[in-house]
Amino acid sequence: MQKDQYRIQTTSYYSSIFTLSSTLKCSYQVLFGFAYSYEGADMPLACLTDFEAHARERLSKSSWDYIEGGADEGITRDDNVAAFKNTSMCKTGQESQEHQSPRIRLRPRYLRDVSEVDLRTTIQGEEISAPICIAPTGFHCLAWPDGEMSTARAAQAAGTCYITSSYASCSLEDIVTTAPRGLRWFQLYVHPERQLNKQLIQRVEALGFRALVITVDVPILGNRRQDIRNQLNLMMNLMQASIHSTKERNSIPHLQMSPISTSLCWNDLSWFQSMTRLPIILKGILTKEDAELAVKHNVHGIIVSNHGGRQLDGVAASIDALTEVVAAVKGKIEVYLDGGVRTGNDVLKALALGAKCVFLGRPILWGLAYKGEHGVKEVLNILKNELHISMALTGKDPLVIYTLVIRSAKVMFAEVKGHTLRTKEEL
Ligand SMILES: Cc1cc2nc3c(=O)[nH]c(=O)nc-3n(C[C@H](O)[C@H](O)[C@H](O)COP(=O)(O)O)c2cc1C
Repeated sequence: MQKDQYRIQTTSYYSSIFTLSSTLKCSYQVLFGFAYSYEGADMPLACLTDFEAHARERLSKSSWDYIEGGADEGITRDDNVAAFKNTSMCKTGQESQEHQSPRIRLRPRYLRDVSEVDLRTTIQGEEISAPICIAPTGFHCLAWPDGEMSTARAAQAAGTCYITSSYASCSLEDIVTTAPRGLRWFQLYVHPERQLNKQLIQRVEALGFRALVITVDVPILGNRRQDIRNQLNLMMNLMQASIHSTKERNSIPHLQMSPISTSLCWNDLSWFQSMTRLPIILKGILTKEDAELAVKHNVHGIIVSNHGGRQLDGVAASIDALTEVVAAVKGKIEVYLDGGVRTGNDVLKALALGAKCVFLGRPILWGLAYKGEHGVKEVLNILKNELHISMALTGKDPLVIYTLVIRSAKVMFAEVKGHTLRTKEEL
């Protein structure tokens, strides 16, 4: 098949799914047959993985698969979580240290006054209550009836930043109306038709979004096997529901579910910069080469991300890619991270390795599936409390021993404080 033919087929395949799904808005629960009641949740949920287990029970198979799914074999998706815990290891016949992921261990300092731990920080000049924010994820109505509106209220209450997805299931206007004081960034999947991007960016700016997050790791959609396997049911359900939801269909802004440009290049960034005063953040950067180009093209920030392992399988875990990107930008722009963050310790490690804040993807959807707005608040609170404990127990500064297991099984230590990475010789 010709490359272009393939591209068109792929795009139209997915865009037809998304166009159909755009007709649904909040009638998703009819389609996916999940329960929203949380009467069964008599034991308090104590950590983010409790929310995950709960969501798995509550959501229908197709919703669960869509949310949890990674690309291809799911290696990067799993590695994102494992790399924080030092359990990630490629086995190539015999177990080899050459393939071990870098170990990250905390290095506590004691007899320091930790009676006050201040988690506040700033991103792009705006204060947030903790360095824990909400990554863009599509279709929140899959997890809770009023979807993104619940998410936005929870983010506002938590004093944190919520990046609204191009594939939000609620309208941008509804999201803003329900949480007018929240700090919001908008995630853009660049549309092939430039003028439509322009209209959307103007709308986003007028609605008070404070940054434009351009996702760069989706020139085409990754291969998600579970979604393909579930496709028949999904499409049938979507079509059935669309028959009953004319009103909702009309209220969905067209561009929110639109196709994604396959031809976006570095040089196109100046066009976006010429039309908006919003800071531009690139989401999905994983290498020093691209990080240097991002700085050269005057973007304001980078989110180190592999899309939760949903795009190119086999790339580095986000936390493993972070150091390379932080070193490349040399403090010129802010660097953030998403992917696999599940505990306060994970947040601390990301901060210590140079991230200004982290963003959560799936855990927010687990929170939504639990109790909507309140579930998301709980997820954010639990992580914030864990981070507080981690910081107090390490002596407040994000001090981390970053133990890099290198080829010869030699161990190299580097202490990381704030944005400065010092090797053993300098310690
Ligand atoms: C269900 C789902 C939908 C997503 N939708 C988007 C999206 O619309 N735009 C985007 O840039 N990233 C999207 N992502 C990627 C997330 O922004 C983020 O990179 C990833 O979820 C972080 O990993 P985590 O889920 O382990 O926290 C999505 C991820 C998931 C799980």
